[in-house]
Amino acid sequence: MCGIVCYVGQRDAVPILIEGLARLEYRGYDSAGVTIQNGAGVVTRKLRGRVQGLRDLLAEQPVAGTSGIAHTRWATHGAPTTVNAHPHHDCTDTIAVVHNGIIENADVLKAELERRGHRFRTETDTETIAHLIEEAKAPTLEQRVAIALGQVEGTYGLAVISSGEPGKIVVARKGSPVLLGVGDGEYFVASDAAAVLEHTRQVVYLDDGDIAVLSPDGYFIIDGESRAQARTVTSLDWNLEAIELGGYAHFMLKEIHEQPETVRATLRGRLLFDTGSARLQGLNLTAGDVAAIRRIVILGCGTSWHAGLVGRHVLESLARIPVDVEYASEYRYRDPLVEPGTLVVAISQSGETADTLEAMRRARAAGCRIVGLVNVVGSTIAREADGGIYLHAGPEIGVASTKAFTSQIVALVLLGLFLGRQRPDGLTEAEGRALVEELTRLPQAVARALELEPQLQDLARRYAGHHHALYLGRGVSFPVALEGALKLKEISYVHAEGYPAAEMKHGPIALIDAEMPVVFVAPKDHVYSKVLSNMQEVRARGGRIIAITTEGAGELGTLVDHQLSVPATASLLSPVVTVVPLQLLAYHIAVLRECDVDRPRNLAKSVTVE
Ligand code: AGP
Repeated sequence: MCGIVCYVGQRDAVPILIEGLARLEYRGYDSAGVTIQNGAGVVTRKLRGRVQGLRDLLAEQPVAGTSGIAHTRWATHGAPTTVNAHPHHDCTDTIAVVHNGIIENADVLKAELERRGHRFRTETDTETIAHLIEEAKAPTLEQRVAIALGQVEGTYGLAVISSGEPGKIVVARKGSPVLLGVGDGEYFVASDAAAVLEHTRQVVYLDDGDIAVLSPDGYFIIDGESRAQARTVTSLDWNLEAIELGGYAHFMLKEIHEQPETVRATLRGRLLFDTGSARLQGLNLTAGDVAAIRRIVILGCGTSWHAGLVGRHVLESLARIPVDVEYASEYRYRDPLVEPGTLVVAISQSGETADTLEAMRRARAAGCRIVGLVNVVGSTIAREADGGIYLHAGPEIGVASTKAFTSQIVALVLLGLFLGRQRPDGLTEAEGRALVEELTRLPQAVARALELEPQLQDLARRYAGHHHALYLGRGVSFPVALEGALKLKEISYVHAEGYPAAEMKHGPIALIDAEMPVVFVAPKDHVYSKVLSNMQEVRARGGRIIAITTEGAGELGTLVDHQLSVPATASLLSPVVTVVPLQLLAYHIAVLRECDVDRPRNLAKSVTVE
């Protein structure tokens, strides 16, 4: 899940490519590189590490030209070294390639190419493509690229330039996202829109199998047989501020504080007060489709899977439809038994996660109807689903997902409302109206939960030195416990686990001692009294307890070490509020541990390889 950026036009390409890479650095930050095309042919500068390092290298060893390709890497094949940094070249150094994806038959191709005399300089799968293009005999670069890709198995979003055809960039897509940015006499290529937004809002999303050819005069798109392909120009609705820090120290903190507004944005125009229901036009589900649903299968990875677990409670409670929640990576390789009338909900912030995309394609092949719950407009999952719900949470730049999680839950509640109000055993109008009322108060409740930040900074100071933590919850709060643990793990590198609170007695309670902070997610709901018993069990073993409760739950006194109360809401909505203190706790612990909050080690924002 690397980031690629390209430019061809009249302006100096270097600053455009470097700023574009900086905007895509959340996709991978193991190494960075650029190849510029100019009178001297193709000139490359690359190194291990951050885009800032590349900026410094180019200041020392400047190169200029009006077209070029660039890359920021998340290493899959070959260690994160300067040699393995992209762009990669053929034997003659006249062809340069940047690539996002995995070439699965690279070893076989490499062995054959070496047998034919090619010299490989890196451990990467990508270098194979450069040599295949070098081998290919055809009059144009795009035809040579098509011949090369005809031999490749795997996924790619890639760009190629050659000193033999100055001013031309050839781009291809299969499995990894690629879009074109259409400017005035200049054209851009990027893995996602953040890299082109400051130059143009007109973008073209490539489909699998597309090959695009860009030059200062324009672009055209063909398939592997050189047949012309027509693709729509879409206008982006983001503004530049959305991808700026806006005075915050980190994008993660900005996005945590954006949640009152992003929850409001997910709700905007979708609540029907008079009928106590939801308007979700993008779903493309008729009343007949709704009546025919026998089962819902939710697919997702990471935080999106956690939202799916909350979604099970929501959809089973509001729509009375049985729900399964599946790790997409497991579902795609399992031979699932799919019954007729199964609706699949694919949850993905980026809309590009390979496991979720492939699991969705597998479910479709089994005859399921697909609904996408996605944040990134125009992403692959959004475009391939039969219908969907956009979160409208704006770009999420911080690698650790925060505002997307709360908006995913709100979208699932809207879906539950939409289905529940149409099902005979679903929600009554009065119940629907009550839930709509609660939803309108949710942004304010989230805003008040954010006011706990100073207390969470104190807690962070107290626990930043600990190496382990447990997060516990019951019912809808169990997925929140999982999410709290994931946030702490992924940005502060503290080992943390989430568990259903009652599961403690079956093993994990052995971990409890005075050094083990235990975070309880304990809104005052129908299982609250049971959670209090679980607190007693932990207390009895000397565990340190941080309790996230809701207003009106009463003081827990000496049962806990720390109690923080968030505003009370309907229990199905409580995860949207109770997760906020957990996001802030993880954030402030990571800052105190001097971790790179927005670029946590070994991670990337969207996982486009399996
Ligand atoms: C969450 O903080 C992580 N970034 C990761 O677990 C993420 O949720 C997962 O990769 C799924 O991403 P998606 O929602 O874009 O599909």
